[in-house]
Amino acid sequence: MPKPSKAEFDVIVWGATGFTGRLVAEYLARTQGAHGARWALAGRDRAKLEQVRGSLVGLNPACAELPVLLADAKDTASLDALVSRTHVILTTVGPYARHGSELVAACARNGTDYCDLTGEVQWMRKMIDAHHARARESGARIVHTCGFDSIPSDLGVLMLQDFMREHHASHCDRIRMFVTKMRGGISGGTAASALQTMDDVKADPSLRRVLGNPHGLDPEPRRGRPEERDQLGVRYNEELGRWTGPFFMAPVNTRVVRRSNALLGYPWGQDFLYSEAASFARGPKGLLTAAAMAGGLGGFFLAASVPAVRRQLEKHVLPAPGTGPSAEKREQGCFAVLLLGEGKAKEGGTVKLEGRVASQGDPGYAATARMLSESALCLAFDSIASEGGVLTPASSMGMKLVERLRRAGMTFEVKPSRA
Ligand SMILES: NC(=O)c1ccc[n+]([C@@H]2O[C@H](COP(=O)([O-])OP(=O)(O)OC[C@H]3O[C@@H](n4cnc5c(N)ncnc54)[C@H](OP(=O)(O)O)[C@@H]3O)[C@@H](O)[C@H]2O)c1
Repeated sequence: MPKPSKAEFDVIVWGATGFTGRLVAEYLARTQGAHGARWALAGRDRAKLEQVRGSLVGLNPACAELPVLLADAKDTASLDALVSRTHVILTTVGPYARHGSELVAACARNGTDYCDLTGEVQWMRKMIDAHHARARESGARIVHTCGFDSIPSDLGVLMLQDFMREHHASHCDRIRMFVTKMRGGISGGTAASALQTMDDVKADPSLRRVLGNPHGLDPEPRRGRPEERDQLGVRYNEELGRWTGPFFMAPVNTRVVRRSNALLGYPWGQDFLYSEAASFARGPKGLLTAAAMAGGLGGFFLAASVPAVRRQLEKHVLPAPGTGPSAEKREQGCFAVLLLGEGKAKEGGTVKLEGRVASQGDPGYAATARMLSESALCLAFDSIASEGGVLTPASSMGMKLVERLRRAGMTFEVKPSRA
């Protein structure tokens, strides 16, 4: 159910001066006519916020009246004051492990719904342990990973499971996800967040166990089975007729999907299997790209662990805070993922399903701004049944968010597989 809310605002965008926050603000400004939300811009620097507001007026003249609110990540009183004025707070203030903890605490205390873009698993674990119980009491729905990680995975799996339940009164025992198309760039905040995870692990090596545990985000983390390990090497997949390699976001997405299953009460079974990989062309070019992906990822983190190399990367290679892919690149970007599910139908026999989640626009920015904005609107306006807690997109907003994202132009399709 939509929570009754007497708050002054439906949605506050916190971090509106950052690269991704501006894109979110632009999305909400462009779609204002459709959502009609009472919304506001927030950040720590009034002059910068006013500049962002000025730039939105070209998209929607009504934005001249948008309220501008101030709060600092380190100032608890300012955060309490901010979250108590809104039904939902959407935050792009990252790295979240550095700047995000006090905001989550404030939302859990005040019963304010929350969505973000974090992919920092070690930080999500910390937020679950610190705030899940309090958020359940206050009714605050704290929803991490509402962008490219992990909406296509989490809602893609939900869509297949929903189809299986509706058509075969059963569930898929196993789903494999393959990224079949991805064109996009990265921003300063995303680069800083990846390096932040490295720093956190260096400061507390026990976090390796959290990051390496396939069930690291489950309510009761338990060690996974061998077949659930994330793909690290290059493999030829006969079924797809393509080379596959590791998908760099699998260590986030797979944990989120497993948490969804657990929070929903294991409707997909205690032994549900889920994996992710990136797929490439069938010939030698595909093999080389898969190998480059497998080697490049490890190579980057290895190189960045050497302080002198890291300084050079930060100075000359990685984008600076507040910057990211150009408007042209964001527009030319796109992604598509394929989900292959299998399970036993209640009426007998094995059922195979094929799902597709796709979008135009750079996955991490254009498409992510849409996914995060629609998540906030879903929390604010849609009739969703979830209680409070530190949740996932599937366990909090579920198919309501799939429907919203379809209306907003994303593809979510599922059909019986021909294979
Ligand atoms: N999952 C996904 O698909 C995805 C996609 C895109 C981004 N992200 C994540 O989103 C986050 C933001 O990325 P970005 O590139 O947009 O970062 P960014 O451009 O560096 O923006 C960071 C924002 O945080 C604000 N900020 C920093 N310190 C603050 C403080 N003490 N109090 C209040 N605000 C503060 C900045 O305000 P000022 O302008 O005042 O400095 C700015 O608005 C990152 O964690 C990134 O990993 C995830």
